[in-house]
Amino acid sequence: MSSLSQRHLLGIKNITAKDIELIFETADTFKEVINRPIKKVPSLRDVTIANIFFENSTRTRLSFELAEKRLSADVVNFSASNSSVKKGETLLDTVHNILAMKVDMVVMRHASVGAPHFLSRHIKANIVNAGDGTHEHPTQALLDTFSIREKLGDVQGKKVAIIGDILHSRVALSNIFALQKLGAKVMVCGPPTLLPKFIASLGVQVELDVKKALEWCDVANVLRIQLERQQIKYFPSLREYALYYGITKKMLDNLKKQIVIMHPGPINRGVELSSDAADSAHSIILDQVENGVAVRMAVLYLLAGATA
Ligand code: CP
Repeated sequence: MSSLSQRHLLGIKNITAKDIELIFETADTFKEVINRPIKKVPSLRDVTIANIFFENSTRTRLSFELAEKRLSADVVNFSASNSSVKKGETLLDTVHNILAMKVDMVVMRHASVGAPHFLSRHIKANIVNAGDGTHEHPTQALLDTFSIREKLGDVQGKKVAIIGDILHSRVALSNIFALQKLGAKVMVCGPPTLLPKFIASLGVQVELDVKKALEWCDVANVLRIQLERQQIKYFPSLREYALYYGITKKMLDNLKKQIVIMHPGPINRGVELSSDAADSAHSIILDQVENGVAVRMAVLYLLAGATA
């Protein structure tokens, strides 16, 4: 069996295009499995996986848990909000205690950039980063690019615009790395205050006008305004943001070509995306969610067999 070049999935930056292709090919098989009447395979029987979430999540957490159960792994869930972290226990003590219960793999979401990288220097278990602060969200980028490949046949040569709050987004950075490794052309679009200063140095086009971004792209990946990470005001009001950067079905219908709309969720309906656009035939948002389970099954399966 082929294996990944890494024994952890900490980010997209440090994996290869070959790793991504292997994950996609494996996810193709698992997508077929999860659409069968019997959705389970015994691949990770006797493997124990801990999902440790220090930040809120709906999609990522449920998707990992389902992926693990479809692979017949034993699963334990940890949520910081109702744990001994509230009594002052450190990240390392928390994880060492969980690992003492014979856990083989850890899926972790944390508000601090680099938290899973830190953990990987201290523990033996395989680690999957389920989102670290504003840094990376590798499985989201894998399911996003897998969904583009499924919808358009290939990622190579496609024009993808990432639109919205780029500054606070871990999805943006992981998507940029994944899309570039797979040969797509990438544009970022948003108000200047929500574009990080370093962004052009990543080799992406920068566009401030959302209409021009929509005219240019084959795929628009629309990002949420992350108010919970904004300690200062980056734009006057949500109403003004929606007026200048919100995408509506009318805007999509007025384009000369058909484009694909994506969103990692959760959506601020009526802010970055109107309901009629989010629920339109342009949208593959729920396909992304479905693909997330197959892609995460592939990641866990391949990491469990990784020799690197
Ligand atoms: N896309 C995503 O990470 O969603 P959750 O925060 O609900 O997991």
